[in-house]
This record gives sequence, structure tokens and C-alpha cells, in this order.
Amino acid sequence: MNFLFLITTLLSSQHTDALNGQNYLQSKDFAAPSFTLKAFNNLHKQWGLDSYPEPKIALQIFESRYGMHQAPYQNDYLPMGIKLAAFPFTFGAVKGIALDCLICHGGALDGKPYPGLGNNSLDLQTFFEDMNKADGNKKPLAFRFGNSRGTNEAGAVSVFLLGFRNPDLSLKTSWTNLGLNDDLHEDAPAWWLLKKKKSMYSTGGADARSVRSVMQFMMSPLHGPDHFNTNEKKFADLQAFMLSIQPPAYPFNIDQSLASLGKEVFQNNCSKCHGTYGEKPNYPNRIIPLDVIGTDSKRFFGITKEFGRFYNSSWFSKEVEGWFSDDYKARETNGYQAPPLDGVWATAPYLHNGSVPTIYSLLNSKARPKVFTRDFQNKFENYNQKELGWNFQSKNNTEHLQNKEITEQRKWYDTSTPGRLNTGHTFGDDLNEQERSQVLEYLKTL
Ligand code: HEC
Ligand code: HEC
Repeated sequence: MNFLFLITTLLSSQHTDALNGQNYLQSKDFAAPSFTLKAFNNLHKQWGLDSYPEPKIALQIFESRYGMHQAPYQNDYLPMGIKLAAFPFTFGAVKGIALDCLICHGGALDGKPYPGLGNNSLDLQTFFEDMNKADGNKKPLAFRFGNSRGTNEAGAVSVFLLGFRNPDLSLKTSWTNLGLNDDLHEDAPAWWLLKKKKSMYSTGGADARSVRSVMQFMMSPLHGPDHFNTNEKKFADLQAFMLSIQPPAYPFNIDQSLASLGKEVFQNNCSKCHGTYGEKPNYPNRIIPLDVIGTDSKRFFGITKEFGRFYNSSWFSKEVEGWFSDDYKARETNGYQAPPLDGVWATAPYLHNGSVPTIYSLLNSKARPKVFTRDFQNKFENYNQKELGWNFQSKNNTEHLQNKEITEQRKWYDTSTPGRLNTGHTFGDDLNEQERSQVLEYLKTL
């Protein structure tokens, strides 16, 4: 076999794996349903309607009420990230509504779905509350799935579900609280960054090549331990899909001479943490100590050591056993990971808790709004090309929300509440306005 042949074969098998992973993600047997069909059939009552509207209207309601986007594939007239799927052991007879990764990891740009871009307008909590009521449940949900639009409590989902399992993932009869916190306000990172990372999650707490780590999402109590083993290969394909995703190019004009001045400012002030870009890119994969970065600490402390210890005794951490490997264990770090900035123009709002709406205000901490809206539609006409971010409304406090419905309140992000602080990352404060606009122009090229 000649060398070129070997390379192209390797490349095309990677390509096939990625395609298989994408198909698996969109398939019906991906995850067990979280809700009954009864709940879905009554959902329109929560919308104040007598009957389920025609598909086009229904999709508009999913978009405006829950921030869910249209699927770029056939999906039974449901938005991206939720699907009609059969309950296990019913031979396909009993269907329900299942969630998949794209509910949080599928965003939209100018009306077009973009799988792999975090969903910055998702209101998962309102959707879960509506479905719970529509199912006739009087009991409230076990914990909050989100507190404000566009951020969610993915960590709490894992902590809650792992509490039902033994280390070999068999189900227990009682639930152990491994430190459930549902106020971490997590912003889903873009999947196209994963290929550069050695460690992942906002604290860098897991090996970025761990397949089992992302299988935590599959812990529905309807699945026994076998399900994890049989799906591991498919999740490896899903990882290949995540690694194949490219960042979207900046859609507006770029002033190249301003950008090249910005490149220098960036290299002098930002590269040591965020790396270099262009022909020979270098990403240093640095975790910055909490007292240096100074951003909100809730996420850092909110996934507890107790959870980490239990995770490290479980099937999830035993991925690459052998003499010289130390597995893909959960790691304790001392801060937050400085992410790569490829395609960063498209991932507003910023920081791990999505507390800063534009890159300009990230680089000028005095300009950060106290209370701002996160009900983005991500239409290009609402993109702020000067500050890099989607347009928003802002206020100094939440007084105007006092008599408003809860769904309305969740559209506003209040940075005075724990978990939502917009402090820290003051590295841009020393730049003058001219240097800032140069750096912003450079960031458009990444
Ligand atoms: C409920 C929303 C939600 C769902 C569903 C979800 N994720 Fe995530 N995901 C997140 C959030 C939020 C983070 C950031 C967590 C953190 O570090 O605080 C994340 C982080 C990740 C990361 C790490 C990215 C990085 O660069 O650090 C990967 C990889 C990932 N998710 C893959 C998946 C896959 C694959 C699925 C489906 C099997 C999935 N996620 C389902 C919300 C979700
Ligand atoms: C000392 C290391 C360090 C320096 C210097 C630094 N950053 Fe950061 N940056 C970080 C860390 C860590 C985060 C993530 C913090 C968090 O989410 O809490 C971050 C986050 C960001 C984000 C948000 C990314 C996202 O997707 O949310 C942007 C944009 C950014 N930095 C740009 C810059 C620019 C531009 C400069 C130079 C002016 C710079 N940074 C200097 C460490 C650094």
C-alpha cells in the first residue's frame, strides 16, 4: 500500500465515522423518551390553544416559546433536538418524546440551523414545565433544567442521574445525592473547538478524547448497563462527527489592514492563554486559576469532589485500561480553561456562564450590562458588527419584571445573582479604544 493511499483511506474512514455519528445522533433509537406521547398531545393547551396547530405554526411556537430551532433533517415536524422515539422493550409500539444533544448543542445562524453551535436562546425549563403539566403531573420537576434563556443545568442532569447508579452502572433502589446544584448557568461550548482541546468542559475537568464522558447524557433510568457498552462504538462515531465540524466564517466585511494591526495586539496580550492562529496554529490548552481569571465561581465549585470521586470509581472513567494509562478520569483543576477562539464571533454571549453579551464588553469590563435580554433569534440584521455579539436590551435592575410571567422573566439575564456574575477576565481593560477595535477586527478572521 503506498503512503498516499494509506492517508486517503485513513481520511475517508474518518469521514465515514463522522457521517455515521451524525446519522446516529439524528436516529430514533438514540435515547429513551423523557416524556409520554400523552404529554406531547396535550402540549398545545399550555400554549393556550384548543388543538395542535399545523406544523408550520407549531415550529414557530417551539422557536418563540422555547428557543428551539428547525431541524436540518427529516424530524416528524419537530424542532432540532427533540424527536419521536420508541420506549425501550416495547418493540417500537409505545412512542414518546426523546431529547438529544442538539437541543443544547444545535444553534441557528440567520434562520439556518447550525448543529454544533450552542443554542444560545434555549429555555429548557419552560419546555420541561409545560410537558410535565401536559402529562397531568402535579409534582414539580426534581430540579431546574435552566434558570434563564440560553444557559442550562447540564451538570445537574449528570449529577442527578448518576445518583441512581452503582459504579458498574446497574440501577440502585435509592438515590444518592452526589452534590446536586442547579444554579451553575452553563453555556454550551461550540463543538468545533473540541478538535483543538486536550481537556474539555469549562474547568478542563475531563479528557477531551473521552467518549464515555459524553455518554453521561444517556443515563435515563430506562437504560441498563448493557446499553452503554453496546453504544460506545456509536458514540466514538459521534465524537468523530463533533471533531469534523468547522466554525462558520464571518459573514460581513473585514477590514484586513485593521485586522493585521489587531493580530499584533492579540499576540502581545491574548496569545499566551488563547494561542495563535493562521498557518501554524498553536493552542496552549491552559487552565487559568480562579483568582487570576476572576469569573463567577459557582460552576467551579458546583460540580462537587464527591461527584468526581464517584465518577472515577464508575464505568465512565474506565475507558482505556492498561498498564501505562491512567484512564480518562475526571480531574480536579484550579480554574477555567481559556478556550480556542475560532468562530468566536458566532458564539455570543461570552464566558462559561454566558454573562457578557459582546466581545467589546468582555474587553472593556465597565461596558458590561447589568441586566440584559437573551432571547436571541440570531438574525444577521440583529448582529452588532462593531462589538461582536447579538443585539440586546439592557436595564440596571429587574424591577420591570416584577409582575411579568416567569417565561418573560427567563428572557432577562440578571448578572447580580450568584452563578450569573459578569466579573473577571479584565485583560482587555488596559487596551485603549483603538487597540480594542483592532483586536475585534482580528477576531473576525479566526
Ligand atoms: C441539557 C443540555 C445539554 C445536552 C442535552 C448535552 N449537552 Fe453537551 N454540554 C452542555 C453544556 C452546558 C456544556 C458545558 C458544560 C460545562 O463545562 O459547564 C456541555 C459540554 C459538552 C462538551 C465539552 C465541550 C468543550 O469544548 O468543553 C461536549 C463534547 C459535549 N457537551 C457533547 C455532548 C453530546 C455528545 C451530547 C449528547 C450525547 C450532549 N453534549 C448533550 C449542554 C448539553
Ligand atoms: C491569563 C489568561 C488570559 C488572557 C491573557 C486572556 N484571556 Fe480570554 N479567556 C481566558 C479564560 C480562562 C477564559 C474563560 C473564562 C470563563 O469562561 O470563565 C477566557 C475567555 C475569553 C473569551 C470568551 C470565549 C467564549 O466563548 O466565551 C474571549 C472572547 C476572550 N477570552 C478573548 C480574549 C482576548 C481578546 C484577550 C486579549 C485582550 C484575552 N482573552 C486575554 C483567559 C485569558
